[in-house]
Amino acid sequence: DAGHYDTGGYEHYLLKEISEQPETITRTMSGRLDERFHVAHLGGLNMDARETRSFRRVKIIGCGSAYYSGQIGAQLIEELARIPADAEPASEFRYRNPVVDPDTLYVAISQSGETYDTLAAVQELKRKGGRVIGIVNAVGSAIAREVDGGIYLHAGPEVSVASTKAFTSTAVAFALLALHLGRVRDLSPADGRRIVDGLRRLPGQIADILTQGDKIAELARKYAGHPSMMFVGRVRGYPVAREGAQKLKEISYVHAEAYPASELKHGPLALIGPEMPTVAIVPDDELLDKNLTTLGEIRTRGGQVLMVGHREPDAKLADDVIVIPKNEVELDPILLTIPLQLLAYHAAVALDRDVDKPRNLAKSVTVE
Ligand code: AGP
Repeated sequence: DAGHYDTGGYEHYLLKEISEQPETITRTMSGRLDERFHVAHLGGLNMDARETRSFRRVKIIGCGSAYYSGQIGAQLIEELARIPADAEPASEFRYRNPVVDPDTLYVAISQSGETYDTLAAVQELKRKGGRVIGIVNAVGSAIAREVDGGIYLHAGPEVSVASTKAFTSTAVAFALLALHLGRVRDLSPADGRRIVDGLRRLPGQIADILTQGDKIAELARKYAGHPSMMFVGRVRGYPVAREGAQKLKEISYVHAEAYPASELKHGPLALIGPEMPTVAIVPDDELLDKNLTTLGEIRTRGGQVLMVGHREPDAKLADDVIVIPKNEVELDPILLTIPLQLLAYHAAVALDRDVDKPRNLAKSVTVE
């Protein structure tokens, strides 16, 4: 029950929560960005400078979309703090008797703070002496109480089963964490400033993307009729593709696969044809040329391409393009996610699905 929190004039909670993201990520950043020294203040971590400098690895755990946001987080930490980092589903981690290492910072992600697999993984880590912080939305939740410290998202209640605003706030929280870890290591003041300024631009840029809602609704109606869709991206674009496929599956029940664009030729290219369109995440970064080559390979096999990126490609390479504003390359995944949320939402509406309460799913999975 959403209590006093209503849809605020929107047709669904999901659309409300997608539309709130300029404000919700602003709250995640509020009071945490330092313009003078280009650092992030994260008092909730309960960690002194010596400890902050001591970690040799970062391991991120979470389930579903929380795990995909953790993949974005791992890339941010490796790029900005140059600490080896990776993400794993908490549901797998807890069952494989992981080596718990005293020099690793463990990060548990959860919107609800009540996901049983993630909670059980945190408890297992603590039993074995692991240092665990949380990135959590629900204040005072079970995971928030269990961890040694953390970052609250302050995104407000998320009612729709499909996570949207918690996802982008988690990615922003990881940018803050990466900045924090980076600035006591190798990250230069100039790069620190570049990221602080980039973060400040995000809310306005999300608002810009939201104005393309009608266009994206039309594209959703065009593509939602297909039984299956492929989502591809390289490196920073790959977790975005995974989250885009997850959103589409959850709320529209259209089958979707996500692959690194680089892996297509190792198998899934066999699926590509007129009946299987591809959503391609093509940021304007150092991998642009590689991604454009992939689009050509898809089109040669008769596959339709819906590209999400920063500029119109050669007309031969994509059937449709959603152009979004550019930010610093490290922060691009946050903006690239927004059109995919809208695409999934409008596909679900077009197919007359139960948008806020998709079949078979619960908002938080508090059982084994
Ligand atoms: C997201 O759209 C999903 N409903 C699901 O994958 C979710 O992210 C996952 O179950 C984790 O939930 P949590 O963040 O509350 O722990």
